[in-house]
Amino acid sequence: MTQPDLSVRIGKLYLENPVLVASGTFGYGSEYGHFVDISLLGGIVTKTLTPEPWPGNPPPRAAETAAGMLNSIGLQNVGVEAFIREKMPYLRTLDTAIIVNVGGGPLEEFVYVTERLADCEGIDALEINMSCPNVSGGLDFSTDPRRAAQLIGTLRRVTSLPIIAKLTPNITDITEIATHVEEAGADAISAINTIRGMAIDISTRRPKLGAIMGGLSGPAIKPVAIAAVYQVAKRVRIPVIGIGGISSAEDALEFMIAGATAVQIGTANFVEPRTGATVVDGLAAWCTASDVPAIREVIGRMELPS
Ligand code: FUM
Repeated sequence: MTQPDLSVRIGKLYLENPVLVASGTFGYGSEYGHFVDISLLGGIVTKTLTPEPWPGNPPPRAAETAAGMLNSIGLQNVGVEAFIREKMPYLRTLDTAIIVNVGGGPLEEFVYVTERLADCEGIDALEINMSCPNVSGGLDFSTDPRRAAQLIGTLRRVTSLPIIAKLTPNITDITEIATHVEEAGADAISAINTIRGMAIDISTRRPKLGAIMGGLSGPAIKPVAIAAVYQVAKRVRIPVIGIGGISSAEDALEFMIAGATAVQIGTANFVEPRTGATVVDGLAAWCTASDVPAIREVIGRMELPS
């Protein structure tokens, strides 16, 4: 039996397989290089970059929940200049797609980071973090259709790299934002970022997070994420990348059948750093067992109840 074809395309971005690791759960790659054969992944998405180094929010910044976790990291990162100087040399050695996550406060900061990365050798695509719930104004660009289009339209003019807009589920209708970023020039959509949440230690009556609220991720949010992917994929023509509680090939297949062209492994990396590679193996095994020669054949192929 020949090996199934796991390759997919996100616009002009070619991926050997549809399994990526999510921003904020895999550092800048080097932190995981000793534990994982990163070349087995379709690609990695690096931690959000801002113009200057940023310390993030006060601790504690993570709390375990039933079937998931809360985080309030607050975009801690080395800043775009140190990223280019100190992190890109390692990332260039990896035989996998490198997707760099871009963030900022005001629009000008997103533009600055995007301009600095536009000609940087070795970057295959940019994912725009317009949906961080952990910083002031972090959700502004993905809860207002006009501002969402303005951000993506502006970035479209400063880079020819594929642009992936990462959207928030903290909104009534995610498809409205999705159609606006598509029209503004996004090449793909990542859905979803974390869901706003909080937890309280009843013995101290203090919030478990220093920032009080944070973002919920992990298996608890998987059904929410699949519904968002399904809704967005029906409304836009550009590819959708599914994120939210994926830890197995079966989870990834659910997202792909709902309409995702690729998936990102996030919280599961903290439990088992090799989850991505295991998911890739599982997808190949499933294709072989199901007589599916190419994984792209399952994208959006959900059977509706009669
Ligand atoms: O660093 C952060 O707090 C990122 C959060 C997010 O984008 O979900």
